[in-house]
Amino acid sequence: MKDKIGIGIIGTGFMGMLHARAFAQCPDAHISAVSDPVLTEPPDIPGLSKPVDFYTDHRQLLKRHDVDAVVIATPENLHRDIVVDAASAGKHIFLEKPIATTIEDADAIISETSGQKIKLMMGHILRFDTRYAQIKAAVDENTIGKPLVCYARRNAPVQEARRLGGRVEVEEYISVHDIDQAFWYFSDKAVKVSAEIVEGPVMKELGVHDFIWITIRFKKGGLAVIETGWGLSEGMVKWTRPASWGGFGDVCLELIGEKGSLYLDYRPMGITAVDDEGWKFPDTLHWPLLHGEIVGDILEEDRYFLKVLRDEREIISTGEDGKNALEVVLAAQRSYREGKQISL
Ligand SMILES: NC(=O)c1ccc[n+]([C@@H]2O[C@H](COP(=O)([O-])OP(=O)(O)OC[C@H]3O[C@@H](n4cnc5c(N)ncnc54)[C@H](O)[C@@H]3O)[C@@H](O)[C@H]2O)c1
Repeated sequence: MKDKIGIGIIGTGFMGMLHARAFAQCPDAHISAVSDPVLTEPPDIPGLSKPVDFYTDHRQLLKRHDVDAVVIATPENLHRDIVVDAASAGKHIFLEKPIATTIEDADAIISETSGQKIKLMMGHILRFDTRYAQIKAAVDENTIGKPLVCYARRNAPVQEARRLGGRVEVEEYISVHDIDQAFWYFSDKAVKVSAEIVEGPVMKELGVHDFIWITIRFKKGGLAVIETGWGLSEGMVKWTRPASWGGFGDVCLELIGEKGSLYLDYRPMGITAVDDEGWKFPDTLHWPLLHGEIVGDILEEDRYFLKVLRDEREIISTGEDGKNALEVVLAAQRSYREGKQISL
């Protein structure tokens, strides 16, 4: 592999631009080009010395010889076709979660990237968060014995749902993170899934439900409850001042084992502020700025991907991991629609 790995960013929305910024900071990578159908000028990527080349069609970007790998951060239902195009062009792939929105698409993504030639790493970002990874390490070291019960909550404010305008359900966009953590901690197959939803103001405004609670039974007996939503009031997190503060919502996780328990609490993420706008819980973990540079989970995730490309590390979030999480998401959707528990 070259001194500097060429990265192409496909999809320059919220997540794509965060990845662009993170890769632009990595000394062993450079952003070769970006693509997004809505672009009319190069997007502003801090850290680049000159405007980045841009395309409105990702297939043009994929023709470039200086693109070694791509980040795919497009809407969820478009992942399959772009993965197929990228793999055919011989590019390695960092694919944002969820892997896809159907099992057929997930299978196609896995089969396109299953040989030795193309590396596919799923963007399950919590695997690159120090505290979630510490829980995994504790489980692997048998600190709490066999994990029995996992409870995870990730409730976002309504601004998150509004930004997406009803394009996905909350389990596709948010629950998938914690479902992946449950798989990671239990290292097991899911056998039964049930889910209940609550419809409130988000459903009235955007046509997607406000909250979902998902129960997952694992084969060796483990049980996970995943509570997710984007129905928290706007006052929970104000994203406006300072703009770089970002913010999320109400996030925690408990893992109880035969010999002990682990508790993760991101409420707040270390800093709380209040002013005339209300309470603010800025992000200090996922992609905060430190002296103008992006730090946190996303930088760790992208650095890890570069190490994978250099054969220095194994992929720890694979296409199969993406499919496992998607299967639970889809089973949860069947469960709340049909009003019954779903066996996998
Ligand atoms: N890991 C995380 O924490 C995290 C957080 C948010 C979103 N995501 C995931 O990232 C992906 C993108 O989500 P987002 O919130 O950034 O969405 P977004 O709507 O902000 O951005 C998506 C971008 O893709 C562009 N696009 C559409 N079709 C395209 C195509 N054919 N080629 C190139 N670009 C195209 C859109 O114009 C848009 O700019 C989704 O899979 C989402 O679930 C992950």
